[in-house]
Amino acid sequence: MSVSLVKEQFELFGKGHSCIKLYCDREKPYRRFEFVMEEINQLKSQKYAADIDSIKEAQIRISPYVHKTPVLSSTTLDCISGKRLFFKCECFQKGGAFKFRGASNAILSLEADEAAKGVVTHSSGNHAAAVSLAAKLRGIPAYVVVPKNAPKCKVENVRRYGGQIIWCEANMQSRESAASKIHQETGAVLIHPFNDKRIISGQGTISLELLEQVPKLDTLVVPISGGGLISGITLAAKFINPTIRVFAAEPSGADDAARSKQAGRIVTLPETKTVADGLRAFLGT
Ligand SMILES: Cc1ncc(COP(=O)(O)O)c(C=O)c1O
Repeated sequence: MSVSLVKEQFELFGKGHSCIKLYCDREKPYRRFEFVMEEINQLKSQKYAADIDSIKEAQIRISPYVHKTPVLSSTTLDCISGKRLFFKCECFQKGGAFKFRGASNAILSLEADEAAKGVVTHSSGNHAAAVSLAAKLRGIPAYVVVPKNAPKCKVENVRRYGGQIIWCEANMQSRESAASKIHQETGAVLIHPFNDKRIISGQGTISLELLEQVPKLDTLVVPISGGGLISGITLAAKFINPTIRVFAAEPSGADDAARSKQAGRIVTLPETKTVADGLRAFLGT
């Protein structure tokens, strides 16, 4: 194996710090190469290790099915804020939210034998509707665990898209145990709302689209709940423009992300107090 082959293979993965180590170790380049590849494979096999490649793959996979959503502006809001603001209107996405990007990426990437048993998820609304719609497009069942306090309109969305609703208590433990029971009984694949590489990659396609529509953005403000949206958006945006700033926004009555950042570890709250029902999930759950 020549050094140029080493370089070529490495660049398939992308640009990373390990590249420098590879070329510094001139005495034993092959051993170093094995070490680097092992490191890369470990990174790639991690459950949440989305990267720019998986986001670009997601864009190719889902683009025939998702809307390219508009970017709107408002002179009034620009005057009030003293900034030029652009709104990426994912409320016009299929299923009613950006969640369809991640859900369709996850469901379309399943092998046929996995998909045949259907999919299961737990969600208070938007992800549930997105999974139901994506499963319907693929012609497979969607089992959706919905907390009793989910908004009626979002439950109706799930029904409309053909999702089979299983009610649970309004807490994460009840949601997870109900979803795991269904998985055991049916073999349906669990599509987690945010801790999933395929979901993060799908959500990351927003940045690819947005930075093409408005290339000169210097700051992104992204809502955060479980963190799948901001993970994908940040990975792709920082790849395109490493100096772009990304701020997470969350309701003060569900501010586990701010508290977690301050504490340097994941903090969950005993309860949430917010009308923003899409932002009630906690990081790391
Ligand atoms: C409308 C809306 N915005 C933002 C979010 C936050 O996404 P994430 O849980 O990936 O952080 C959600 C999650 O459900 C949502 O429904």
